[in-house]
Amino acid sequence: MQTVYQQRRQDLMALMGEGTAVFASAPMAVMHNDVEYNFRQDSDFYYLTGFDEPGAIAVLAPHHEEHRFVLFVRPKDKDKEIWSGRRLGVEAAKAALGADEVFSIEELDAKLPDYLKGGDRLFYHFGHDAALNGKILRHWQRLLASYVKRGTGPTAIADARLLLQSLRRVKRPEEIDLIRQAVAVSVKAHNYAREIAQPGRYEYEIQAEMEHLFKLAGGGTAYPSIVASGDNACILHYVENNRQMQAGDLLLIDAGGCIDYYNADITRTFPVAGKFSAEQRILYELVLEAQLNAIAEVQPGKPFNAFHDAAVRTITAGLVELGLLVGDVDTLIEEKKHKAFFMHGTGHFLGLDVHDTGVLRNADKTWKPFAAGNVVTVEPGIYVMPDYEPVEGQPAVDDRWRGIGIRIEDDVLVTDAGPEVLTAGVPKSVAAMEA
Ligand code: GLY
Ligand code: MN
Ligand code: MN
Repeated sequence: MQTVYQQRRQDLMALMGEGTAVFASAPMAVMHNDVEYNFRQDSDFYYLTGFDEPGAIAVLAPHHEEHRFVLFVRPKDKDKEIWSGRRLGVEAAKAALGADEVFSIEELDAKLPDYLKGGDRLFYHFGHDAALNGKILRHWQRLLASYVKRGTGPTAIADARLLLQSLRRVKRPEEIDLIRQAVAVSVKAHNYAREIAQPGRYEYEIQAEMEHLFKLAGGGTAYPSIVASGDNACILHYVENNRQMQAGDLLLIDAGGCIDYYNADITRTFPVAGKFSAEQRILYELVLEAQLNAIAEVQPGKPFNAFHDAAVRTITAGLVELGLLVGDVDTLIEEKKHKAFFMHGTGHFLGLDVHDTGVLRNADKTWKPFAAGNVVTVEPGIYVMPDYEPVEGQPAVDDRWRGIGIRIEDDVLVTDAGPEVLTAGVPKSVAAMEA
């Protein structure tokens, strides 16, 4: 497995020129009243090292003669390990993580300048750790102050995250394999959720059963699960999940598992009692049509906005046909009138982060194209707020439409042969949603 991380570091160093990069692991788990809450590794750090501990720094120094990959890690400490878990330690880290040199994190201030000095730039992401940000900045300023005497050293700081995104946006085979594993358990959970959801049960019961399956697979929950019945489906980030489901409700479930930090992100919407109302069915079919049209645009070379545009066009035209919007479709799209019913984007990259890294536009405002190896969610929706009020020039909507919220979300791998719907194991036809 180390060769995988080594390859990633090499590919990154090829982009760095004579710069030095510093990546920090996520800070320690949060303590509340003596209870330690879960630690979650920083995705960039994990991508480059596969190391799952807090309190570590990775330095990439392609210009250095011997030490191109240097790690600073927490030293072994018997007492602390009794309380907070095992540490790899300085001795073992070299072989286990393939580092050219490993130091205790306590030596960071003493050793880091040596590595920064040889580079012409510093790549670092100013994240949430204010103490570390300050430390890195001070090292850089000190080296800058002595630059005139040396004539070498970093004269600028560039964002390390932006540097790395160009690699992370194209998933490697081992990453796609992990996403497939996360998808597999999520597919199972969604299919099980449809089996057990029925009037009288509580949203949290469905959530618990799904998250139980994620955990049983050796994984976890990718993001706070949304199990939203009835009107709750119109709240995009509804997470209370405490309502008792009623006959006549739709149930919108946006939930995914994660395996080894790689995520799945799936939404399905179905009638709790097994039959769509006429209005629910019409809007469901429209969202499904929009989603299929959007998926068809997820092709290598197509600009990133094409799939959203396809979804917006389908939904806007459909809403006009239903009389929920009035006007010329092109004008309505231009004026973004669809946002009254479809107020979010159609998707995002997916990977180590649920909303994965990846710059979407070029400096000239054109959209970057999809490339084989991208993984993106496709998740259009229609939400008719219970208290919907039309903007000027648009019609009021009939009560029968109100409180309907529908989203359909799949995870799609861009391949040279076209879009591969990784989450196809959860059906989404009207017939399957009523089964
Ligand atoms: N579940 C988060 C999202 O769909 O973006
Ligand atoms: Mn989602
Ligand atoms: Mn999503």
